Amino acid sequence: MPYVALYRKYRPGDFDEIVGQKAIVTTLKNQIKSGKIGHAYLFCGMRGTGKTTTARILAKALNCEKGPTVKPCNECDHCKAINSGSMIDVIEMDAASNRGIDDIRDLREKANFPPSEGRFKIYIIDEVHMLTTEAFNALLKTLEEPPRHVVFILATTEPNKLLPTILSRCMRFDFHRVSIEEIVKHMSEIANDCGVDVEDKALAKLAAVSQGSVRDALSLLDKAFAFGVDKLSYEDVLELLGAVSRDVLYNISEAVVKKDAAHIMQIIDEVASSGKDLSRFIDDLTEHFRNILMICINADRDIIDVIDEEYTILQSIAKNFTKERLLTAIDILNDASNDMKWLSQPRVVLESAMVKLTLPELWNKDEGYISRIQVLEQKVSDLARNIGHISNVSSTKDNIILTAPSVNQIPTSKNLEKPDKDIKTVKPDKNEYTENKDTDSNGADAEQIDDDQQLKKLNELWPEVLNELGKQKKMALLNFIKVGQVTPCDIKL
Ligand SMILES: Nc1ncnc2c1ncn2[C@@H]1O[C@H](COP(=O)(O)OP(=O)(O)OP(=O)(O)O)[C@@H](O)[C@H]1O
Ligand SMILES: [Mg+2]
Ligand SMILES: [Zn+2]
Repeated sequence: MPYVALYRKYRPGDFDEIVGQKAIVTTLKNQIKSGKIGHAYLFCGMRGTGKTTTARILAKALNCEKGPTVKPCNECDHCKAINSGSMIDVIEMDAASNRGIDDIRDLREKANFPPSEGRFKIYIIDEVHMLTTEAFNALLKTLEEPPRHVVFILATTEPNKLLPTILSRCMRFDFHRVSIEEIVKHMSEIANDCGVDVEDKALAKLAAVSQGSVRDALSLLDKAFAFGVDKLSYEDVLELLGAVSRDVLYNISEAVVKKDAAHIMQIIDEVASSGKDLSRFIDDLTEHFRNILMICINADRDIIDVIDEEYTILQSIAKNFTKERLLTAIDILNDASNDMKWLSQPRVVLESAMVKLTLPELWNKDEGYISRIQVLEQKVSDLARNIGHISNVSSTKDNIILTAPSVNQIPTSKNLEKPDKDIKTVKPDKNEYTENKDTDSNGADAEQIDDDQQLKKLNELWPEVLNELGKQKKMALLNFIKVGQVTPCDIKL
């Protein structure tokens, strides 16, 4: 017997076997029970989430010999014929290959004839967004006044490409991505049925890669079965996908917190030398940081599509990050992921992005600047308070501005020691400081002092200020000024 792909072998036979899509299933069942069947349905949503499957189940529910029923028997001639695609009254049309006006005209003519076997004539038009404009208009006429025995089920992955006139005539159902937990449960039942022993973690990885598409998940499971034969481990799946283990991602986020670039380089070296796909690696890492960000902003548990075990680990990692840092990290990774696609040395792009993650001072994004400037402002404020002569600290993108209340109050070593007492005035003509207790009478002099000279003077005196800070054992402040090479750049009066 030829091999049948898992996703075909395990196509749901009735509504109860559909995974996820609860709201859609409930509504359709209620309509069937109450006999209020629509004449035109629109099934939208991403690939492999159950649109065609649900359309066929609805067709069976309406045409089952024991129906209309919410539980088609799958045994009568009609159900069997629909399952094998041979029932004359259930017409499946692929609009991608039959997209012209003639196809729709043909459909319209035939739709007028009553069903030959079943109760309803059901048209399932897949990828309906591919129809030409003329074909759309022809279809529209039929949708406006459909024969009583006809039900249209239009399916599309791109509802945004449909005319509003079509949308407004259909009952729309949006098929959602199926959650990782649901896909894992489904795959686990299939594995059980096939007699393959699988690790939950392995299934979670396959489900995560398929991004909510059950068909993709089952296609991957098919490959994995060929790989693992009667036992499928997490390592098998990682090898199959060319992916890295979750632990690698956890270790990297930990190293980012510790700013340990060397450790990250070691991890990348291991990843690269074991032949893993670096593009997939950076995408996994981006997703990982995205999940941490979601936890940081207290997003709904449902938005973070991971199994519970991983969720708990992510919660503890999130405690070490700020939102700003995560946003910047995601930006850096996204940029690197794009660059890796077209640059000849993807590993180098990856490595420099990873180093950037550990060096917040290099972040050239606004968020990075903001936190960096905030730290600088705080430290400079401390400096101002310590020397007691700077009334305000502010910053622009390039500068930190220390504002002195008046020119008379530029500090010297003497008044630093006794900040409350003597205030000095700059006397640029004499190039020295003199005692000045009568600030008013010297105000005029002071105003005449040229700004540039004042700044020059302050810069000359800067080592003295630093010396004084040293003497006062303000080491943290002093270090900050030295490491940041902070020097006066402007004096605002
Ligand atoms: N919600 C689901 N529950 C269970 N199995 C599903 C579901 N969605 C998809 N599948 C599996 O994937 C296969 C393909 O599903 P289906 O053809 O219904 O997807 P689709 O949404 O029509 O996708 P496409 O947009 O690619 O046409 C099914 O045979 C089934 O094995
Ligand atoms: Mg389909
Ligand atoms: Zn039946």
